[in-house]
Amino acid sequence: MTVNDVLTVHGGTPLHGRIRVRGAKNLVSKAMVAALLGDAPSRLYDVPRIRDVEVVRGLLELHGVRVSDGAEDGELILDPANVASATSDEINVHAGSSRIPILLCGPLLHRLGHAFIPDLGGCHIGPRPIDFHIQALREFGAVVDKAADGMHLTAPNGLHGTKLELPYPSVGATEQVLLTAVMADGVTELRNAAVEPEIIDLICVLQKMGAIIKVHTDRVIEIQGVPRLGGYTHRPIPDRIEAASWAAAALATGGDIEVLGAEQVDMMTFLNVFRSVGGAYEVTDTRPPRDGSPGQEGKIRFWHPGGELRAVALETDVHPGFMTDWQQPLVVALTQARGLSIVHETVYEQRLGYTEALNSMGATIQVYRDCLGGTPCRFGRRDFKHSAVIAGPSKLHAADLVIPDLRAGFSHLIAALAAEGTSRVYGVDLINRGYEDFEAKLAALGAHAERA
Ligand code: EPZ
Repeated sequence: MTVNDVLTVHGGTPLHGRIRVRGAKNLVSKAMVAALLGDAPSRLYDVPRIRDVEVVRGLLELHGVRVSDGAEDGELILDPANVASATSDEINVHAGSSRIPILLCGPLLHRLGHAFIPDLGGCHIGPRPIDFHIQALREFGAVVDKAADGMHLTAPNGLHGTKLELPYPSVGATEQVLLTAVMADGVTELRNAAVEPEIIDLICVLQKMGAIIKVHTDRVIEIQGVPRLGGYTHRPIPDRIEAASWAAAALATGGDIEVLGAEQVDMMTFLNVFRSVGGAYEVTDTRPPRDGSPGQEGKIRFWHPGGELRAVALETDVHPGFMTDWQQPLVVALTQARGLSIVHETVYEQRLGYTEALNSMGATIQVYRDCLGGTPCRFGRRDFKHSAVIAGPSKLHAADLVIPDLRAGFSHLIAALAAEGTSRVYGVDLINRGYEDFEAKLAALGAHAERA
């Protein structure tokens, strides 16, 4: 953290205005990796200017992919003509900054016959193991050698289609299997796969490249390996996590925010909860230009309609459940709801630590080891504080806050904006990992915040 990595936030002003979200961080980074598999350049639109994209760009360039900006703002061209090895030292420079390196394994094994994974970073939201990834790669025929600097992988006999079942529908492990199976020899059947919209969009990307992938019911995905893939041209789904974060900011500050680019279909579960809490929203669908009349970009307007917010019980879950990444921003709004809200976090075991900071601002949140949702989850008997009870409404007051991870960081920011008085938020640069131009957006929404 640098001395400038501090935002002074003068809270108590409702956020009003309009901002735009671009391509989903959690698809864009994977689509960039997929470009490695092609034998022709790929073109990706609507890429946000965020730190995670810079990290993946750096990793790809390290492996010989030429990445250049296209004519349209947010357009990236990825040319994999000269894919080459990188040294573990070079790759290690990226260690600690992202979890994406692990997804390069399958593509690099296909292209070069070997790959290296440094120690992985990403948000500090629990242990975040990679055992599912390693197990899957081994089942495809990869040989994994653990060394002090990371893991070295080879595929002496090539990669072969296989039958796999994930112990839990992990997003990253499903992407690992997709990115490896598309060019493996034979058919792969993946059971208990994640089916998040970002995964379906990655499947669309791979299909455009020439892959053959069937998505069956009940979390089964079947991939028929092909010997070669081409490039793709793709406009990603919008970032539904960022859209929901601004929606929560509107509710927590008593404001009114129009999120251009937000789409209803991938946010249905969030919208249900938002309405149950007492928030209002209005969806405007995208309208393509027709018969000389101009088109219109889709958007969702989120606002606090006045009156009291209502407590809710919710459980985070894999898609189509309530996303774990929606949880932290929404909890700030729940501190303003009358009654006891319950949040059962079932995706990550340690994703409620940030509630201490909210308590230091006057919120009343207690965390419990028990599964307080309707369904017992895999963390119930493992001593993790993964359920929260939020009593409201609480008047929030200013505090000094240190940002622990990306989504909790955004929730700290919302809390500081909703609180009376002047807060200092330390470590705000972390928010750049996933929220494009967030300071400019805050300014556009009328927030009073400045660096240091
Ligand atoms: C992705 O992480 C996202 N990151 C996360 O968003 C998101 O919270 C998560 O999916 C769930 O939706 C990216 O897409 C870059 P998982 P991922 O594998 O793929 C356990 C954000 O803020 N697990 O679905 O790493 C794991 O510990 C980030 O944008 C294993 O046990 O998540 C967790 O409990 C944060 N072994 C659960 O599965 C493994 O090998 C789900 O993790 C892999 C995962």
